[in-house]
Amino acid sequence: MNYQNLLIEISDKIAVVTLNRPQALNALNKELLGEISSFLDEAENNPEIRVLILTGSGEKSFVAGADIKEFSDFNASQGESLAKEGQEKVFDKLENFPKPVIAAVNGFALGGGLELAMAAHFRIASENARLGLPEVTLGLIPGYGGTQRLPKLIGKGRAAQMIFTAEMIPAQRAYEMGLVNEVVPQSELMDRAKAIALKIASNSSTAIAKAIQAVNASDTREGFGTEIKSFGELFDSADFQEGVSAFIEKRKPDFK
Ligand code: CAA
Repeated sequence: MNYQNLLIEISDKIAVVTLNRPQALNALNKELLGEISSFLDEAENNPEIRVLILTGSGEKSFVAGADIKEFSDFNASQGESLAKEGQEKVFDKLENFPKPVIAAVNGFALGGGLELAMAAHFRIASENARLGLPEVTLGLIPGYGGTQRLPKLIGKGRAAQMIFTAEMIPAQRAYEMGLVNEVVPQSELMDRAKAIALKIASNSSTAIAKAIQAVNASDTREGFGTEIKSFGELFDSADFQEGVSAFIEKRKPDFK
């Protein structure tokens, strides 16, 4: 299949999937999400692929979130569908993908971008990476699983602080909190990700598929539904109107 927003490179049983919308810092619009979903379907049955590495194009951004411009006029039910469909078709599919997925976080991983990295099985980051869930600055909450996966990875208190303050944390801090497994200079990021992937690819893929299922079985799922519903409801709020208008007009939001 031909992809407009993904660059795919397959060698040594490793697929490097580069999200490629640099003009929007690789923000996740509908088309890009659809392509990720289709590629996952394709990769699942491709014997030439044993491990996936997800990264963003350019040196500035992994993924700067869901595409704010695309959902700026959504109402509550459209907001809820955005979260539900995205979670089902991409984020949950990724987490349950039977082949390991490594996120190589090469810059900003914000909102849906951090959520994408968290849906991968583990993350390594470049020194310049900055990670955060800034949705509350838009009058929203994370809608692609962030309220569920972040507390699991770093603990409830730290996750609450990150979500409530909307602050970005540097890669080194993310490492200290267990959000990323390693931090390397940007020039070494892909080599390091590939070295880890090669090691994985030499192990039993049947055993690894079972290991993914077993690790994921430690999760409970009810919280995802709460997130989807709340995310949708916020699209009908005045704060959402103000937050998104402020982003598009490049000014600070004034929440009443
Ligand atoms: N959606 C749409 N466009 C985006 C975007 C996004 N999430 N992030 C960046 N862009 C666009 C900008 O609008 C800009 O486009 P124009 O040149 O056409 O104006 C271009 O990418 C470059 O961005 P900036 O000029 O803003 O670059 P910067 O270096 O000054 O700032 C940044 C970088 C701090 C990452 C800033 O772009 C930013 O704050 N982006 C938004 C981050 C965000 O709020 N993400 C959460 C989205 S909501 C979400 O993800 C919901 C969910 O959970 C489902």
